[in-house]
Amino acid sequence: MRVSTVVLFISIASLLIAALSVDARGRGGGRSSGGRSRSRSRSRSSSGGSSSKPKITKYTPITPTSVRSPVIRSQTRLGSRTSSFSNVVAGYLVARYFLGNAPVYRSGYPMYRCYVKVPTERALRITYEEERLLNATGHSCLSSSTTNGRLIEGIDQNRTSLTTTITYKKSGKTNTVHADEVSLGDIDEQDFEIKTVAQYNVAIVEGTSCSRVEKTVNGTMITLYETNPNKASVLYANTALLVLFTIGVALRVL
Ligand SMILES: *[C@@H]1O[C@H](CO)[C@@H](O)[C@H](O)[C@H]1NC(C)=O
Ligand SMILES: *[C@@H]1O[C@H](CO)[C@@H](O)[C@H](O)[C@H]1NC(C)=O
Ligand SMILES: *[C@@H]1O[C@H](CO)[C@@H](O)[C@H](O)[C@H]1NC(C)=O
Repeated sequence: MRVSTVVLFISIASLLIAALSVDARGRGGGRSSGGRSRSRSRSRSSSGGSSSKPKITKYTPITPTSVRSPVIRSQTRLGSRTSSFSNVVAGYLVARYFLGNAPVYRSGYPMYRCYVKVPTERALRITYEEERLLNATGHSCLSSSTTNGRLIEGIDQNRTSLTTTITYKKSGKTNTVHADEVSLGDIDEQDFEIKTVAQYNVAIVEGTSCSRVEKTVNGTMITLYETNPNKASVLYANTALLVLFTIGVALRVL
């Protein structure tokens, strides 16, 4: 009687473990379950038959499948506040990024003289960056051969305005600030545009008529995970195994 109970238990346990490990592999195998982005991003499917050794670990980066795909911390760069004080400005820079090479920032993003703070569990996937040096009427002010302008020291005293405008694309809401810091609202999986315009009443690059800096950034706010969340299914399988084992031991003892 007791032996048959144990045998029955072992059969059920094996079935459960098999089901769970198939589930863990399925989750890691690049199959989309069509739900939220959390379940959309996967790494390469595993070809090795070792079901006990899942390919997705805590540190496996999440392969982006859309601009809204989440990231883990190691896939991001820390937004540097000090680089918003840089004294070298691009005369005309336009950069478009695609999924694979789009920079992802956590903590914050440095605009020109304004730092944009990002909610703790969010990151910014940047799709477009533009930086320009302009004259007072908004025309380019560097000769076409010059790519960067070195700002004259101390010109920040002669800044007449600093305006940063955040546009939340889904709601169409905008937020305009005249400060060196602004916080982005928590708009998970939504697009935004940020534009900073700084105007001076003096030339800011030696020997030019440059007196304005404009910087524009477009991107999407995404979920930032500490580690790969798909690891959870494997943990779950291991936990289930442990529970079953414990029950098994208990049954034997009875
Ligand atoms: C700005 O540049 C444009 C084109 O070079 C020029 O026509 C205009 O006079 C300049 N404005 C100022 C204020 O320098
Ligand atoms: C630039 O700022 C300095 C210090 O505030 C001031 O003395 C100077 O007059 C300013 N220059 C112009 C052109 O406004
Ligand atoms: C950036 O966002 C603005 C505002 O929605 C939009 O007009 C512009 O076309 C976008 N630029 C790019 C390159 O996506």
